[in-house]
This record gives sequence, C-alpha cells and structure tokens, in this order.
Amino acid sequence: MHAVGIVAAAGSGLRLGADRPKALVPLGGRPLVAWSVAALLDGGVAEVVVAVPAAERDEFAAALPAGVVLVEGGATRTASVRAALAAVPGEATAVLVHDAARPLTPPAVVSRVLAALVAGAPAVVPVLPVVDTTVAVDDAGIVTGAPDRGSLRRVQTPQGFSRAALDAAYDRLPVGQELTDDAAVVRAAGIPVGTVPGDERSAKVTVAHDLALAELMVGAAAPEPAAGTVLR
Ligand code: CTP
Ligand code: MG
Repeated sequence: MHAVGIVAAAGSGLRLGADRPKALVPLGGRPLVAWSVAALLDGGVAEVVVAVPAAERDEFAAALPAGVVLVEGGATRTASVRAALAAVPGEATAVLVHDAARPLTPPAVVSRVLAALVAGAPAVVPVLPVVDTTVAVDDAGIVTGAPDRGSLRRVQTPQGFSRAALDAAYDRLPVGQELTDDAAVVRAAGIPVGTVPGDERSAKVTVAHDLALAELMVGAAAPEPAAGTVLR
C-alpha cells in the first residue's frame, strides 16, 4: 500500500479569530499545519499534499518540510480536498484526509487508520464515544428528543480511504456541493465506512479555548530536563 496524506489547511479560521489563517497560527512555536503534517508522516504516510489559501502560499512553504506538495484550496473544505485529491500522485493506493486544525493527533491514530485499510476496508474514520446526553431541539430551543447515546460517535480525522473509493466518490459528488467530511462524500456514493478508536488529543482547534488547551498539552509533554540539570 502506498498511502498519501491530504491536509485541508485552506480555511480562514473565523471562529478562532486570529490575525492569520488558522493553519499558520503557532502552537508551541510551530504553525498548526506543521504539527498535522508531521503527525501524518510519523504515522506512516509516504508523502503529503496540503491545500492552502492562495494568498499565503509562501508562508506555508516556509513552514513545511521540503517535498510537501502545496495546492490552492477552494471556498469550502470539500472544494479544498477535491483540489488536493487531483494532485495526489498516480502511485497512491490509499489516501488519508486530515484537518490542519488537529495538530496533536497521535501517530498511533494514523497507524490504526492505515492498518484498517491494509486489512481491506475501503473507508475508515477514527471515532470517540459521546459522553454527554445529546438532544435534538426545535426552532424554539425546546427539546424534541434524545437519540440513544450508545449508538452515537464523534468523528475525527485523519479519515482513510482506498484511493479508488475516494476518487469515485468525489467524481460522483456534484461540483459545488459541500459535505462536512470526506466520509460523508464516500457514504453518499454508497461505500461503507468503518471505524477505529480515535483519541481525545486529536481534538480540533476551533475556538480560542481549544488553542489554549492545546498549548497546555504541548507544555505538559515537555521533554525531561537534560542529564546533569540540577533541579531545585
Ligand atoms: N478548510 C479548507 N478549506 C476551506 C475551509 C476549511 O481546507 N475552504 C480546512 C481548514 O483549514 C481546517 C479544516 O478544513 O483545517 C476544518 O475546518 P474548520 O475547523 O472549520 O476551519 P476553518 O474553516 O478555517 O474555520 P472557521 O470555520 O472557524 O472559519
Ligand atoms: Mg470552517
């Protein structure tokens, strides 16, 4: 299997409200996109294509290792992934699609997704259980029902696909139609989507609080002091 990663990094990050596109916002001194690309490479993908905002292409190139391919993203996440998919090399047999906004995804999650594809799944997503009671409401905010929490999951990225399945699904999706993730694109094409365990550390940075939490996690994971350091 030759697995290529796609990183969707072309959003502006309106809800985070930073002074630059969200994927370029630093975490522990390193842009979010550099973390998410590293997670894919550490987890076993062979190469990475990143969808970036056209105006900041140079900043992205400076933030990423040589060999990472940059393409111009689109107006929606779906359009950005479609653009990156067109730049995936011909020899790829599997594609993992990841959010730049998930910087702290452990490489073990990437490995689990890859292992499910090797085992023959056409599509697989990392998921976590829903721990809060979850309700549906009407326009007035009145609770109308509570789905059985036991059958609900929160879906993360990277989402893994056989290259043939992802290409076929995007080919079928009308240009301009937007879906929230790639598993939805594949399911719309009638392809079954499996699951593997996700990880809380793979949380998406959406609002300022998420970035503050990620900074705490990076700080908590600081390396041990070098041998010979005297602690008082
Ligand atoms: N994304 C993208 N192209 C777009 C929109 C989003 O590649 N046109 C990417 C983002 O860069 C992000 C991922 O999709 O890594 C998940 O989207 P989200 O968290 O919603 O990021 P933004 O769209 O940038 O943020 P916001 O919705 O707050 O503006
Ligand atoms: Mg968005």
